[in-house]
Amino acid sequence: MVYLDNAATSNFKPKCVYDAIVGDIKNSANSGRSGHKLAINSALRIERSRDYFSNAFGGDHLVFTKNCTEALNLAIFGYLKHGMRVVTTENEHNSVLRPLYALASRGIINLVILPLKDGYLPFERLKTMSVGADLVVVSLVSNVLGTILDTTIFDEIKKDNTKILVDGAQGVPIIDINIKTHKIDMLAIPAHKGLHGLQGVGALIFDESTSLTPLIFGGTGTESFSPIQPTTIPEGFESGTLFSGGICAMHAGATWTYQHIDSYRKTIKLLANECAYQLRRAGATVYNKDFDSGIVTFNIDDMDSQDVASILDKDGIAVRGGIHCAPLVHKHLGTERQGAVRVSFGIDNTEKDLMKLLNSVEQIKGPKF
Ligand code: ALA
Repeated sequence: MVYLDNAATSNFKPKCVYDAIVGDIKNSANSGRSGHKLAINSALRIERSRDYFSNAFGGDHLVFTKNCTEALNLAIFGYLKHGMRVVTTENEHNSVLRPLYALASRGIINLVILPLKDGYLPFERLKTMSVGADLVVVSLVSNVLGTILDTTIFDEIKKDNTKILVDGAQGVPIIDINIKTHKIDMLAIPAHKGLHGLQGVGALIFDESTSLTPLIFGGTGTESFSPIQPTTIPEGFESGTLFSGGICAMHAGATWTYQHIDSYRKTIKLLANECAYQLRRAGATVYNKDFDSGIVTFNIDDMDSQDVASILDKDGIAVRGGIHCAPLVHKHLGTERQGAVRVSFGIDNTEKDLMKLLNSVEQIKGPKF
């Protein structure tokens, strides 16, 4: 199978990721609960991972979650209070939009969604709309259009009372991001995409000035007689048993990824640029203009994108059709009915993979081209 669905999850995992998960399984114990050596060692592995990611992204606090969606939910439900004004954009994924819609429909927040202009975020409008906002939520990279956010915008929209939440699902580690230097307050990341970790782990990294309430209530291994959920960080925010193996694998995957970051970024950028050029030559409609994040989104005539994805699947090529859980981007593109075929390159893809895709697309297009 030629795997070109790395924006959904990376298929390639380095050996150290396998070693980390197996190592954790072989030493299974529940961190933060029992006091025996195995439990303490498990807790130490988790804390080493926490320190690694806190340092890598400049955060004062880090809460492990089950994915980037849960991290975004923690930030949104944990920070927002009655009467707050929130600005987000048409670029966002349902992991941002749906929690915000839920709060807006209950009358808790006042939600403003910035429309895209020709596939891009109009920065001047974002700056204007963000004045007086309590929270601005933006993604680093669009999961449909691959558009990369200019991180200098944070400096310009940051005001004392405006918090900035960044969805790093597609952008980390393609873009270097640091909470302190970029003046953002909260960053949500997944393990399983560009960091080459496993599905089932993510994290919210945040600044000490950001006060959150927990999302998940339950056992923390602390203050057990108290009926009130503790709010100590991280225990109060990590109720339930953590996926320790996944956390160790995320640490191993990220360490490996940052050791190979230049070749990773170069590989996906080259392949995506070439892919877009060749798809356009073959008569496909390519929607995106930025290719550095390795994403190319296209359609073939008026064919349903899921049909194209199914044909490619039969040809041994994995891509993602449909709406990519980002409905407003598709409304903007006018592709609500058709969706779009998304190709997303990973570190292990080669020119040969691209050629296989292009051959299949040419077959689908038929002899008229
Ligand atoms: N959010 C992921 C994607 O874009 C799953 O495919």
